[in-house]
Amino acid sequence: MLASKLFRRMASTVQSSVSVVTVIGAGLMGSGIAQVAAQSGLNVHLVDQSEGLLENAKERIVTSLKRVAKKKFADNAQMRESFVSDSVDKISFNVDGKAAAASSDLVIEAIVEKIEEKQKLFRELDLVAPSHTVFATNTSSLPVSDIASATKRLDRFGGLHFFNPVPVMKLVEVAKTPETSNETFDLLTNFGKTVGKHPISCRDTPGFVVNRLLVPYQMEAFRMLERGDASAEDIDMAMKLGAGYPMGPFELSDYVGLDTLKFIYDGWHDQFPENPLFNPCALLDKFVEEGKLGVKTGEGVYKHGK
Ligand code: CAA
Ligand code: NAD
Repeated sequence: MLASKLFRRMASTVQSSVSVVTVIGAGLMGSGIAQVAAQSGLNVHLVDQSEGLLENAKERIVTSLKRVAKKKFADNAQMRESFVSDSVDKISFNVDGKAAAASSDLVIEAIVEKIEEKQKLFRELDLVAPSHTVFATNTSSLPVSDIASATKRLDRFGGLHFFNPVPVMKLVEVAKTPETSNETFDLLTNFGKTVGKHPISCRDTPGFVVNRLLVPYQMEAFRMLERGDASAEDIDMAMKLGAGYPMGPFELSDYVGLDTLKFIYDGWHDQFPENPLFNPCALLDKFVEEGKLGVKTGEGVYKHGK
């Protein structure tokens, strides 16, 4: 009896730091998270559904690493080159998420913003990952505890929300569910620091801190455009010059992805139908229906060159 209790406690012991991390989803966010982990010296498995998607991710990572290196080692071409190649060498590009998770201390999920897909993924990984492995989701809007409910490691599950572009944005939100253990929360916070981010702590509430403020602002801009109050260019210019934002709301929406914005909003509307702040917007729906998803498809509110 005592032995089995002791085993259960040992089995769920969380390490104090991470040496191998798996990132599932090699899109905009996953490739950025893998990059910052690798450039901080961690061993990384980056996973996606096809070799083609992984090749695109590798290209994106190399381009971004070169931009980082240009700033970091402005006067030393050799250091720039070795920074890029050493960092890329830390990443193994993989289509087998289960094998990757089986040898990792931390698994960070950055796949599409759909609860069923995230739950399915974690349900499968929970069966193969070692008991000490901590799971984290980079969800923008979904309840972390709903995603965690697909697993049997509620104490070793938390939110780790990075910002786009990951190599540049300094913040990471660390979200704690009522079940997340203090050891898990500390590991996630330390991981954030290790990869050069400033962690803040928050509860598992919709959109945590940043998106709860930012996304309704973006949607209000779409409503303004829909009413014809001002042009997209003028609304963007107004927020840059009048409020000091680095990007206007439409530039930012194109950058984040209009599909991601719609997933977030539809999810909140379903969850809180009585809140008018989360009412859908026909204009955003139209962009998404037409496949105008922003920078990633070459056109959103604006047209984007390669
Ligand atoms: N990788 C590496 N470095 C990059 C980079 C990338 N992907 N993007 C920009 N940089 C760095 C480079 O050093 C670059 O210099 P070089 O051009 O010489 O390489 C420098 O930043 C400046 O970049 P740019 O000249 O391209 O443009 P900029 O000065 O306008 O900065 C920006 C770009 C950092 C993206 C800035 O416009 C910005 O901060 N925008 C707002 C981004 C934001 O709000 N992100 C949060 C989105 S919400 C979210 O992520 C949460 C969610 O769940 C949806
Ligand atoms: P994305 O569409 O660029 O990338 C998602 C990737 O996940 C794709 O490459 C897809 O092939 C892959 N994928 C889907 N299902 C998979 C599975 N079962 N196994 C392995 N790979 C799978 O999306 P993104 O913008 O990187 O967003 C990813 C997550 O990060 C979402 O939850 C999103 O809400 C969140 N997020 C996005 C931003 C943003 O600005 N775009 C910012 C913060 C958080």
